[in-house]
Amino acid sequence: MKKLTVTFAGSLIAFAASATMAHADKLTLYCSAQEDWCQLMARSFEDATGIDVNMTRKSSGETFAQVRAESANPRGDVWWGGTGDPHLQAAEEGLTAEYISPMREQLHDWAISQAESAGNRTIGIYSGALGYGYNTELLEANGLPEPSCWKDLLKPEFKGHVQMANPNSSGTAYTTLASMVQIFGEDEGFEFMKGLHANINQYTKSGSAPIKAAGRGENTVGIVFMHDAVAQAVAGFPIKVVAPCEGTGYEIGSMSIIDGARNMDEAKQFYDWALSTDAQNLALQVNAFQVPSNKGAETSPSAPDMSTIKLIDYDFKKYGSSDERKRLLQKWDEEVSVLPQ
Ligand code: G6P
Repeated sequence: MKKLTVTFAGSLIAFAASATMAHADKLTLYCSAQEDWCQLMARSFEDATGIDVNMTRKSSGETFAQVRAESANPRGDVWWGGTGDPHLQAAEEGLTAEYISPMREQLHDWAISQAESAGNRTIGIYSGALGYGYNTELLEANGLPEPSCWKDLLKPEFKGHVQMANPNSSGTAYTTLASMVQIFGEDEGFEFMKGLHANINQYTKSGSAPIKAAGRGENTVGIVFMHDAVAQAVAGFPIKVVAPCEGTGYEIGSMSIIDGARNMDEAKQFYDWALSTDAQNLALQVNAFQVPSNKGAETSPSAPDMSTIKLIDYDFKKYGSSDERKRLLQKWDEEVSVLPQ
C-alpha cells in the first residue's frame, strides 16, 4: 500500500511536471489579418520554436470585443494583425500589456510611433492604404461609368453594386468611416455614408470579403484596403484598383500582447519573432501586399506604391481613442445603418 501511495505520488509529480511543460509550450493567437497569412504565421512560429499555436481568425472589431469580454479571465495571449484603431482602444482600456521588444530598433518610425502613442501596449506590423476595387467585366456589363473618386460611388446607377464591411466588426470599415469624417468633415462625412448606404448591397463581417465577392463576380465594387484588391488582381481576377481622387486614409496594422496572458513568455517570443525580417517576409508567400514595418523586410513590387497615393494625415490618436470610436460607431448605427435602402 505504502509503495502504491509512493508510486501514485510520484506519478502525480510527473503529471504535474508534464502539465507545466505542456503549459509552457503553447500560445493562443488571435489573428485579424487575412486567414491564409494567419495560418502561415502560426505554423511558421511552431516550426521555428516548437511552441504549439492555437490560432483563431476574427475581424479587428470582433477581436477587440472578445478581448474585452474575456478581460477578467484572459484566454488569448497575442493579438496579431488587424487595423490599429481597435488595438489603440484596447491599449487605452488597459486590455493589452506593455512590452518593449529588443527588435524595435529595426522598425520604421510609423510603427514605433504607434507603440509610443499607446504606452507601448501595441506596435505597428504593417501599413496599407484604403481605397476600392471593382470588377471591370461587371462594370462594363452593367454600363457603369469608371469610378475614380469616393463620390463616384454615390451615383444612383451604382445602387446595389457597392459592398463594404460593417464598421462594428471590421477594422477596414471603421477606417472607411473615420477616413470619410476626416476627408469631408463630420457632417459631410456622415452624409457621404448615408448616400453610400443607399447603394450598398450588403455589409459583410470581414473587411476584405467585398473584394473577394467582386473577384468571384458576385459584386461590382468593394471598399477595402487597396492591397486586398491588388491580391485579387494578382490572383487573375478582373479587378481594377482605385486610389480615390479626394485622398484616402490608411491603417497601421498592429500587434498587442493581451494583458494577463497565460503564456506571457511565449507571447513575447512570438512578438519578437513577428517583428523580424524573416517572419515579415512570409507575407510574400500569401500575396499579402501590405508595407512591412521592419525596415529590412521586402515589400512586394505588386504592393500599392504609398508614395503615389494621396494619403490624409490620419489622426490615429483621436480615431483610435475609446470615446471617439464608440461615438462614431454608435452614430453610424443610429443614423446610417437604420435608413431604408
Ligand atoms: C485585411 C487586410 C488587413 C487588415 C484586415 C482588417 O485582412 O489585408 O490589412 O488589417 O483586413 O480586417 P477586418 O476584417 O477587421 O476589416
